[in-house]
Amino acid sequence: MGELGLNKIFGALLATALGMMALIELPKVIFGDSAAHHGDDHGEVHSLSEKMCAQFHYCVEIAEAASAGAVEDVFDLGAALAIADLSRGERLFAGQCATCHTITPGGANGTGPNLHNTVGASKAHIAGFNYSAAMNAAEGEWSYENLDAWLKAPASYVRGTSMSFAGVKRDQDRANVIAYLAANTENAPAFPEPRPAAEEAPADGEAVPADTAAEPGEGETEATDIELPPAEGEIAPAEEVEPT
Ligand code: HEC
Repeated sequence: MGELGLNKIFGALLATALGMMALIELPKVIFGDSAAHHGDDHGEVHSLSEKMCAQFHYCVEIAEAASAGAVEDVFDLGAALAIADLSRGERLFAGQCATCHTITPGGANGTGPNLHNTVGASKAHIAGFNYSAAMNAAEGEWSYENLDAWLKAPASYVRGTSMSFAGVKRDQDRANVIAYLAANTENAPAFPEPRPAAEEAPADGEAVPADTAAEPGEGETEATDIELPPAEGEIAPAEEVEPT
């Protein structure tokens, strides 16, 4: 038998030993070392979380991972508009848009159409302006969300547009300039609501602190709900997501 064969046997033995260790330890994790006198403490909630908490101090780490892992990089337009800085928006417009657009009431069309009363208006609504075929075919109106998508990447939002402008990459800059468009729109629609905090929370494997009003969604686990051993990876967020 070659060296390779011996390695295989050794590997198999090692795997078996590890498997047996897991089998011995798992009941302790699930039922606790006190499983023997289980009768005494009926009435108390003994969730897996609590046991993990008591035995491994996992509780703190799960809670931390939940907040650190929140999807903070998903852009919340409503929140950005709520704190938008109009004077920055005006400066950005002057620097990046005014070469092609006027925004005063009845202002002349330039390379681009006049942008007074843009928010809430239909796309391509300026009668005398020679829009691209793509813009003329574009459906819907300039809602805040559509303006955001348009100004982030004009060429991909309306493929074939004649607006040769790379886009405003920084989220807050875009919100500032959109707020400036709204300030130059008579009876502009209300800004979209900032997202409620609960929606920003991660959906999977999250431990919801007992004192929040948030309803756990599908896939979320409330501390007291867990009675089963974790599926593979269910406890993993505590290890994978490093709190920053
Ligand atoms: C290089 C010139 C140019 C620049 C710079 C430019 N635009 Fe435009 N813009 C255009 C043109 C041309 C169109 C018409 C596009 C079409 O028909 O496909 C347009 C269309 C638009 C529309 C749609 C208007 C409508 O009536 O449907 C909006 C909104 C808009 N631009 C906003 C902006 C903002 C805000 C900026 C600055 C951040 C900007 N643009 C920068 C040329 C420009």
